[in-house]
Amino acid sequence: MSRPIFNPQLTPLGDLRHLLGIEGLGRPILEEILSTAETLVDSSNGTTRKVPLLRGKTVANLFFENSTRTRTTFELAAKRLSADVLNINVAASATSKGETLLDTLRNLQAMQCDMFVVRHSASGAAHFIAQHVEPHISVINAGDGQHAHPTQALLDMYAIRKFKGDLSQLKVVIIGDLLHSRVARSQIHALNILGVGELVTVGPKTLLPEHFRELGARVEHNLDPALANADVIITLRLQRERMKSASLPGQDEYFQCYGLTQRRLQLASPDAIVMHPGPTNRGVEIEASVADGPQSIILDQVRCGIAVRMAVMSITMGNVERALHENKQ
Ligand code: CP
Repeated sequence: MSRPIFNPQLTPLGDLRHLLGIEGLGRPILEEILSTAETLVDSSNGTTRKVPLLRGKTVANLFFENSTRTRTTFELAAKRLSADVLNINVAASATSKGETLLDTLRNLQAMQCDMFVVRHSASGAAHFIAQHVEPHISVINAGDGQHAHPTQALLDMYAIRKFKGDLSQLKVVIIGDLLHSRVARSQIHALNILGVGELVTVGPKTLLPEHFRELGARVEHNLDPALANADVIITLRLQRERMKSASLPGQDEYFQCYGLTQRRLQLASPDAIVMHPGPTNRGVEIEASVADGPQSIILDQVRCGIAVRMAVMSITMGNVERALHENKQ
């Protein structure tokens, strides 16, 4: 008899305890997150409802790397779940005096935190933290290096379904710097798990290696033909902070070859939606008029992030409590 593969994200009962990445998760877990998110949105006005699901719990936001959207929507999500929230200012914390990451964690555990939301520039940081926390704590990866950004991918799946419906009927095109993008990796896993109809990645050879095929995406280097009949177009930022060598000739040339312009948008389906995880660099990966245009759902993505992050936090915390209750942790 083959042994089940150990997944550090799951409780011994097979439920989601930590959200560290999308890879290796089953479709039912992703569906549960997306359907739970829907229940948290007030259908009359599209806002998320305040609910007591995390009352009495303390969530610590540990952002070792800058963030606008992810940090604030996690904070809003935790507050709408009625949790207490600690935003640790890492630059002003004792890590700047030489305290190790593990010592910082131990101190936060002593303050009786129940959840760590972690962003870090090192791939694997959230996994490392998850291996060292006490059994009642859940760890959510808010982006680690170029490895994974699972809640971004989940909110993108939620937004795609909201605006375009059944994924199996859709052609999704992801454009840009896939090599350095944790968002793209998580999106590719999520799209495949949820059964996307067609998935195409497009970028220069230096930023889109052939091995992306192995993740389950078609790899193209010529943007115009790849856009034909696209239902969903996702543009990505050039992640210069992660480029170790000159991967590009220049931003102007990049925009000429891979920028999403009004002219290129005409090549896709007439009702295609345009997405971007942010931060956007107008005139580099996307024309300003496209980012602000009627087909753009960039700000809707941000809004969807609140409900999806509420769903992830409430599901993981509930699963931790269930596993502890059954004395299986
Ligand atoms: N999409 C995203 O992760 O944006 P932030 O860096 O602003 O959190």
